[in-house]
Amino acid sequence: MRRGTQVKGIVLAGGTGSRLWPLTKVISKQLLPVYDKPMIYYPISTLFLAGIRDIAIVTTPEEQSRFKSLLGTGSDWGVSFTYVAQAKPTGISDAFVLCEEFLAGSPSILILGDNLFVGAGLGKSLARFLDHTSGARILGYHVKNPSDYGVIEVDENLKVLTIQEKPAQPRSNLAIPGLYVVDSTAPEKARQVQPSARGEKEITEFLSAYMLEDNLQIEVMQRGSAWMDMGNPLDLAATSDYIKVIEQRQGTKISCPEEIAWRSGWITDAKLIELGNRLAPSSYGKYLGSLPR
Ligand code: TTP
Repeated sequence: MRRGTQVKGIVLAGGTGSRLWPLTKVISKQLLPVYDKPMIYYPISTLFLAGIRDIAIVTTPEEQSRFKSLLGTGSDWGVSFTYVAQAKPTGISDAFVLCEEFLAGSPSILILGDNLFVGAGLGKSLARFLDHTSGARILGYHVKNPSDYGVIEVDENLKVLTIQEKPAQPRSNLAIPGLYVVDSTAPEKARQVQPSARGEKEITEFLSAYMLEDNLQIEVMQRGSAWMDMGNPLDLAATSDYIKVIEQRQGTKISCPEEIAWRSGWITDAKLIELGNRLAPSSYGKYLGSLPR
C-alpha cells in the first residue's frame, strides 16, 4: 500500500448509539458536539493526517442527508466524500461489503466514526501501515478495562496469537482501537463473517481471517497518546474536556479538517479564508481565517 492516493478511507458513522440515549434519539451520535466541532471531524482528520482524500461515509439511510449537509462532496476541503447507507447496524465488518463498489479493489483504512486518536507518532504509525502491500494492520492500546473491547494477545515479537471480543477473561490488556488498515481482499473476507450471538458481523472475526493467514500486524500506541471511544456519556464529556484544555492551552486546534487540508496543500490560502468567513462569527471561523496570516 502506498501512502495517499490509492488507499481509500471509510468512516463508519451508522449504528444505533443506544449507549447515549436519549442524546441520540433524534440525531446521529457522530454529529454530536465534541467541544467545538462535530464528532465526525475527529476521525475524518485522522484519515486526512494519513494522506487519505477519497473517503466513504457510511451512515444510516435516515441520517444521510444531515451528513451531506455538513460535509458536502468534499470539494471545499480538496477531498472526495462518497455516501453509503447501511440499512441496519449489521456490524463493523459489513462496511467492507457495503463499500465494495467504492473500494474498487483498493486497500483501505476503516475508522469508527466515534473514535478519537491524538498523539505524537500516530501519523508516522499510519504512514508505516500504508507502506505495506498486503494483509491487515491494527493498533493496540493499553487499557485498564480490556473486557469492554476486542482484545489481542501478542508474543514478544508482536505476533498476534489470539483475538477475543469483549472477553470475560482477557488474555492481555491490549485493546484494539477502531482503526483498521486492510488490503484489497477485505470485502471477500468480510463476506465470510457470520453474525455472532449478538447478531453482529464482528470485526474481531474478520481480523481473525488475516491472523490465520499470518498476515495481521499490530503497532502499539505510545504511552501518553490518546484513544477515546466517545460512545458513552462519560467518555463523550471527557473527550470534550480533553480537547478544550489542550486547545485553550496551545491556541491551536486538534482535528480541524480544514487546517489539515490547507497544511497538506489540498486547498489554497484564499479557500481557507473563504471557509472561515462562512463560519463567522464563531471562534472556529476566526481561527481558520487567522491561519494563512
Ligand atoms: P458501536 O459504538 O459499537 O455501536 P453503536 O454506535 O450502535 O452504539 P451503541 O453500542 O451505543 O448502541 O459502533 C462503533 C462505531 O461504528 C460507531 O461509530 C457506529 C458504527 N457502526 C456502524 O456504522 N454500523 C454498525 O453496524 C455498527 C455495529 C457500528
